[in-house]
Amino acid sequence: MSIVPWSDRKVSELATRGWTVLHDFLPRDVIGQLREEAREGVARDKFREAGVGRGADHEVENAIRGDRILWIDPSDATPAQHVYWKAIEELQNDLNRELFLSLVSFESQFAVYGAGAFYKTHVDRFETADERMISCTLYLNDGWRAEDGGALRLHVEGGPIDVLPDAGTMVVFRSDSVPHEVLSSNRERYSLTGWFRRRSLRVVD
Ligand code: OGA
Ligand code: MN
Repeated sequence: MSIVPWSDRKVSELATRGWTVLHDFLPRDVIGQLREEAREGVARDKFREAGVGRGADHEVENAIRGDRILWIDPSDATPAQHVYWKAIEELQNDLNRELFLSLVSFESQFAVYGAGAFYKTHVDRFETADERMISCTLYLNDGWRAEDGGALRLHVEGGPIDVLPDAGTMVVFRSDSVPHEVLSSNRERYSLTGWFRRRSLRVVD
């Protein structure tokens, strides 16, 4: 039995529009545990200012993004992170089967936005690397209200679409073609963002 709240309708939304939203992606207690782990990481000063770009182009750019991040190490996962990783593996298999993709790996990071932090409009695939195929962000915040700000805004046809970062909501979208931004948040905002990757198609000589 699948633990991922996935359906034919969600698959076809992703295929045709390039984005979809899943609710209750993981059980409440697991979401709460992940939020606690993120909080603890902040308290222990394990988070680092997020950057823009990759490799030698990587720069901390506060005018573009103000969040702080902590990469997850799947070989050193907590029980809650293990549940998340299992669900992600299942999602990867489903995406490969249903959408004829060739996703081979996944990378994931906690992110925290303090009050006033935002992330300006961008797409997730780097200009210098083509591995990122599908982005997904799982939100960890209990009782988020519209007045708390911090919505994820997708700039899509017929949009914009705002998604509130409420606990258990998971947004899934194409990494190459969906411009999006995080609106300024009025309270601490916790999430787990990840990217499904394919093998690079670039020819390197
Ligand atoms: C990102 C991003 C969206 C969000 O980290 O690239 O766009 O809602 N995050 O946190
Ligand atoms: Mn993004």
